[in-house]
Amino acid sequence: MAQNVRLDKVFANLGILSRSECKKAAKRGEITVNGTVCTEADRKVDPDRDAICLNGRRLDTRTFVYYMMNKPAGVITATEDKSAQTVLDLLDDKRTDLSPVGRLDKDTTGILLITNDGQMNHRLLSPRWHVVKTYQAYVEGEMTEEGLRTLARGVDIGDEKPTLPAQVRLLSVRKPQLVEISVIEGRFHQIKRMLQAVGNPCIMLHRKSFGPLTLDDALEPGCCRELTEEELQALREQTESK
Ligand code: URA
Repeated sequence: MAQNVRLDKVFANLGILSRSECKKAAKRGEITVNGTVCTEADRKVDPDRDAICLNGRRLDTRTFVYYMMNKPAGVITATEDKSAQTVLDLLDDKRTDLSPVGRLDKDTTGILLITNDGQMNHRLLSPRWHVVKTYQAYVEGEMTEEGLRTLARGVDIGDEKPTLPAQVRLLSVRKPQLVEISVIEGRFHQIKRMLQAVGNPCIMLHRKSFGPLTLDDALEPGCCRELTEEELQALREQTESK
């Protein structure tokens, strides 16, 4: 996809060598491109096609990567933080251009996508593409029929406009009750504020699906994996140009 990228930029984006370190490594003959030693760090390469090795080890230089994480509680959805652990700290991939797709609160668990594909990231969050996010929440008290209807219709959470209509299902009537809510918006603390607004504060929040993707049961909290080709295709279909 991306062609003619400087070798030192490829290494810097991967978080493997800074530009100056790349220059030195190249001079020392430690880098090969398609099997030939490359001593110039400003050489243009195609990271999706060229075989780039450092000290004989082939690097994964694909331009775009896509991960699904089962976000655990206690970790913040940010690219960096001075004191708290971030979701990117949990990834083995140290590319410097990775970002989470949207945010989950520190105490929220569940599916979180992480990518360095900026356009896909933007579209997955834009209201224009109507990406449905499904959450399950344990709530305080007892949900009333009226409360469920209000959540589904759209509820005043103190913003300029009420929330857009949502799909709402009560999954368990035994306490603590479990409710499932699917929304296309992504307002700050949206689900917690919606539940607060109908008098059933959220006790625990988990995101089960994001657009066409459902959290992989095999992913332990804190673990992630790359998206499969089918999953990626489903995301592409969801975010096609409009
Ligand atoms: N809504 C919330 O209130 N919190 C989240 O983490 C996600 C959606």
